[in-house]
Amino acid sequence: MNTHPLVKEILFSKEEIDSRTAQLAEEIEQYYRTQDIKENTVILIGLLKGCVPFMANFIKHFNYECQTEYMVVSSYLGGTKTTGEPKINLDLNISIKDKHVLIIEDIIDSGITLDYVKNYLSFKGAKEVKIVTLLDKPEGRSVSMETDWCGFKIKNEFVVGYGLDYDERLRNLPFIAVCDVDKLDDWKW
Ligand code: IMP
Ligand code: MG
Repeated sequence: MNTHPLVKEILFSKEEIDSRTAQLAEEIEQYYRTQDIKENTVILIGLLKGCVPFMANFIKHFNYECQTEYMVVSSYLGGTKTTGEPKINLDLNISIKDKHVLIIEDIIDSGITLDYVKNYLSFKGAKEVKIVTLLDKPEGRSVSMETDWCGFKIKNEFVVGYGLDYDERLRNLPFIAVCDVDKLDDWKW
C-alpha cells in the first residue's frame, strides 16, 4: 500500500527503517559474539503480529546462529490505549532453559507487555533475556522497563504501518506514520 487517508505524517521511510535494522542486527550480532552461548544459538522470539516486517528484515541481516519462535501476547483491545493486562494467546512450545533469548518487538509504550514477557521468559529458565524494539515511546511508560536495543525513539503519538496496526489494519503500510486520530471516531473501513 502506498499511502492512506489515515496517515497524518510519515516518520520513517522504508529505506530509513531498512538501514537502521541492518545496523541493529550487526550491533546485536557483535554482542552475542562476545558471550558464552549454549550451542552457540540465540532464540529469537517475535511478538506477533506487529513484529512481522521488522523481524523478517532483521533476520536477513543477523549473521549469528539462531532459532525463530513466536508468541502472541495481547494487551491492546483494538483501541489506541493499552488495557494493561497482558494475556498469552500463543505460547512457546520449545524449552528455553539456559538459553540466550532475544525478544523482537515492534514498539514499547507503557512497558507492560515487555515487562510481562521478560519476566515470563526468565521464569521459564532463560539464561538471559534481551530486547530489541523497532520503536520506543519513552513518555508512555507506566512501569520501569528499558530495552537493550531500539531502532527509533518517538514522541507519544499513535503510529501505524510497518507492522503496527490500528484495529488490525494499516500493518501493510511500507513506512511508519503518525495516525490521524481525529478521523478515527467516525471512520468507516
Ligand atoms: P505496551 O504494553 O503499552 O508497551 O504496549 C505494547 C504494544 O502495544 C505493542 O506491542 C503494540 O502492539 C501496541 N502499541 C503501542 N503503541 C502503539 C502505537 O502507537 N501504534 C500501534 N500499536 C501500538
Ligand atoms: Mg505488539
